[in-house]
Amino acid sequence: MPTPQSNNLTAPPEVDVRAALAQQFMSDRLFGVESVPVPVGALAGMAAPGAGASAVRPRSAASGDPEAGARLRVLDEREVQTCRKCSLSKTRTKTVFGCGSPQARLVFVGEAPGFDEDRTGMPFVGKAGALLTKMIEAGMGLARDEVYICNVLKCRPPSNRDPSADEILACSAYLQQQLEWIHPEVIIALGAPAAKTLLCTTSGIGKLRGRFHEYDLSGTKGAGPVVSLMPTYHPAYLLRNPGEKGKTWSDLQMVMAKLGLPISKK
Ligand code: URA
Ligand code: SF4
Repeated sequence: MPTPQSNNLTAPPEVDVRAALAQQFMSDRLFGVESVPVPVGALAGMAAPGAGASAVRPRSAASGDPEAGARLRVLDEREVQTCRKCSLSKTRTKTVFGCGSPQARLVFVGEAPGFDEDRTGMPFVGKAGALLTKMIEAGMGLARDEVYICNVLKCRPPSNRDPSADEILACSAYLQQQLEWIHPEVIIALGAPAAKTLLCTTSGIGKLRGRFHEYDLSGTKGAGPVVSLMPTYHPAYLLRNPGEKGKTWSDLQMVMAKLGLPISKK
């Protein structure tokens, strides 16, 4: 690790080192890399208020639609499962609508189903899914079924090629509807295709991640409620670039703080 430069404009270097080590420690613990010997006490100052909070919205909260579950089921069964709006319908095995709580405060949006998802009809069940589950459970202290997980595309592109602009256009009304009915407090966009689609931007994920953006739930700017959206790296990218895991952990911590979830665990 490079030695932090000391000058009059920055915090004392030992603070930076401690924070960096704590960050490294948590991301290593979270993602299963060999842990570095940092005393857990070093993390004490990182705890956020709201210990014991859950990602499932309390029933009394106003924003969640009590009918969301029923509406989502109808959308899946009557429209998505029989959808032929793009040519991916010819090559898919199963459509992959989404899974989790229709009352979730937090929704993860990935890119498109892969091999395992196409076979099972469930999102994020392959290798990238295992890492996402670890991020949710070991990292954020939540259960997978108390958040909601879906993708921009509901059908697998052959050989996992990138989704085309036409396919995204054809499919994105389903995603917009899912997000509007669930009405989460925070959306995490996993990877560039999800972030670019939801934010209508051509900026890269490296530029977009690390801060909250606004997402218009109605799909039209200014026409309805806005929720916070955090772009971060896709777990498949993190499997190929483990050195970037710390950045995603820092993005997840920002989301946890916004939701009032406790940050240091055990
Ligand atoms: N990658 C995705 O973007 N979505 C999945 O469901 C699985 C892998
Ligand atoms: Fe329909 Fe979306 Fe599947 Fe294309 S990817 S066939 S638009 S559900």
